[in-house]
Amino acid sequence: MERSLVLIKPDAMERGLAGVIIGRLQGEGLNLVALRMLHMDRALAERHYAVHKDKPFFKDLVDYIISTPKVDAVFEGRGAVERIRTIMGATDPARAAAGTVRKDFGLDVQRNSTHASDSPENAEKEISLFFTKNEIFD
Ligand code: RTP
Ligand code: MG
Repeated sequence: MERSLVLIKPDAMERGLAGVIIGRLQGEGLNLVALRMLHMDRALAERHYAVHKDKPFFKDLVDYIISTPKVDAVFEGRGAVERIRTIMGATDPARAAAGTVRKDFGLDVQRNSTHASDSPENAEKEISLFFTKNEIFD
């Protein structure tokens, strides 16, 4: 079974969309195995987005992701990483396919409503930043 970390980003939190987005993933048969709210501090946000530290948008991205508390979740299922990326859609909502979360709810390339892990290896690393083993259920 594969797992993926999903974060409901501030733009979606501010519009009350956490439940709708989690419900879409559950409706696709993905199993919710961990859930919480967390207002990240800068240090955790910088670790989570460390792969982007040399990008021009890094500081803006960190400022944005710590701007409100957000919902953090782990979903499990066969091929969960790729399935969830497909459900979320392209990074830029303007380029996301019809019916995807980012097409329906995203505002722009930064305020794109969700994060989802991009590989099973990164998923395991990301999940361990946000959840301890005994916070994840079968
Ligand atoms: P995520 O990691 O959040 O699931 O998104 P992603 O894989 O589709 O996109 P990624 O390249 O990992 O970028 C991480 C997040 O950085 C923001 N971003 N801003 N201003 C920009 O050009 C820009 N590019 C990316 C987005 O919030 C993106 O989700
Ligand atoms: Mg990414």
